[in-house]
Amino acid sequence: MLTYSSPFPSTFVFGVAAASAQIEGAAFEDGKGESIWDRFCRVPGAIHDADTLDVACDHYHRFDEDFALMASLGVKDYRLSIAWPRLYPDGDGQINPAGVDFYHRLFASMARHGIRPWVTLFHWDLPQALEERGGWTSRATVEAFARYADTVVKEYGHAVKDWITLNEIRCFTWLGYGAGTKAPGRKESAAVVNQTFHHALLCHGHGVRAVREHGGAGARVGLTDNCDVSVPVTETPADIAAARAWFVEQNLHVLGAIHGKGYAPRYLERTGPDAPFVRPGDFDLISLPTDFLGLNIYTATYVRAGRDGQPEALPLPANYPRADSPWLNLVPQAIYWASRMVHEEYGHRSIYITENGCGYNEEPVVGGEVLDLHRRDYLRSHLREMHRAIADGIPLDGYFLWSFIDNYEWEDGYQRRFGIVHCDFETQVRTPKLSARYYAAVLRTRCIV
Ligand code: GCO
Repeated sequence: MLTYSSPFPSTFVFGVAAASAQIEGAAFEDGKGESIWDRFCRVPGAIHDADTLDVACDHYHRFDEDFALMASLGVKDYRLSIAWPRLYPDGDGQINPAGVDFYHRLFASMARHGIRPWVTLFHWDLPQALEERGGWTSRATVEAFARYADTVVKEYGHAVKDWITLNEIRCFTWLGYGAGTKAPGRKESAAVVNQTFHHALLCHGHGVRAVREHGGAGARVGLTDNCDVSVPVTETPADIAAARAWFVEQNLHVLGAIHGKGYAPRYLERTGPDAPFVRPGDFDLISLPTDFLGLNIYTATYVRAGRDGQPEALPLPANYPRADSPWLNLVPQAIYWASRMVHEEYGHRSIYITENGCGYNEEPVVGGEVLDLHRRDYLRSHLREMHRAIADGIPLDGYFLWSFIDNYEWEDGYQRRFGIVHCDFETQVRTPKLSARYYAAVLRTRCIV
């Protein structure tokens, strides 16, 4: 087979990703408690077509079939998340044995199919019972998460060695408690939203602590962040410097905080009286060293050096190419510059792209095929940027394609398809798309084909 590039390093991880709430279904089965998304998806007008995540991809019952399909594509690494309400229906207190057992069966099936689990402790499905005690606005959630994280790592540490603490802090805090577009759909003040960030950062710290205490030999842990990404309009020193300054400024909330052993003065200036309330010792936990950084990279903002030398973020013209997800402007260089900037700014020695993909509405199965050439092109253009990053010495160690299968795309419901495998949500029939065949060729050759 002709290949476009030299091989990716033999240690480079090519994986796929998904998340419990988006694919499992069985939302009220075997003792699982209600999550804030089970509640939010029933709020009139909140979700496209009022889609619920009650069944989703029915992965709860079909995981063995799904892992067989993954293995047939050559996938050996799968990033998944654990549903907190399946283990702790009330978020804390009484544990649900059937929920504990489900993930034991799931990991055993992955092992049988030669697939290594990369487990996210929290991917947005907060137990509703904790929301009723304040959710992310309350420190009680931090204490409950600490116990949940200890339980999970103790229970599954024999099968899981690669842990991700939280998925995309800014989405389940700002979008859930500020913009209100994601569960629990609240619109709180800046001070309250900033406090939810702080509580999330504390949970990240507890996740790291739990893995260090209970993860056993070889366990590794990191955060997955959907940082704001800047791409210099031209790769000239002035535009690169401007893009870097913009990147640092935009990410003080999370990346700045976990690396900085405290909130940056610039952040505290910006938040003023709305700054989070910090207890002594909080940042000893928040800034615990991690083994890698996960980046969810989908798009970026173009930045140049403005007339006064300050970073100037450029608006995109209406006709700029984007996916059907309105926020998903097609900027493949995002992956190169995000990896480079976190490496150069925070000295990360290991970076994984823990999500990257594109969402489109209509991807019909025609003649048994889904010719998603748009996704094949999206994937190939991002692979080229990763290849460049590695050639430039950036420690980019892996890539998880979002997503293995079409799934519940939050407030967009089932309308927006991100999978390399098509899911017919009526029949639950899985159909690998053209992009799955393309990705399988990349995995087989370890080259851009
Ligand atoms: C996110 C979430 C995923 C999304 C995916 C497409 O990054 O928002 O981690 O759950 O489904 O990114 O939006």
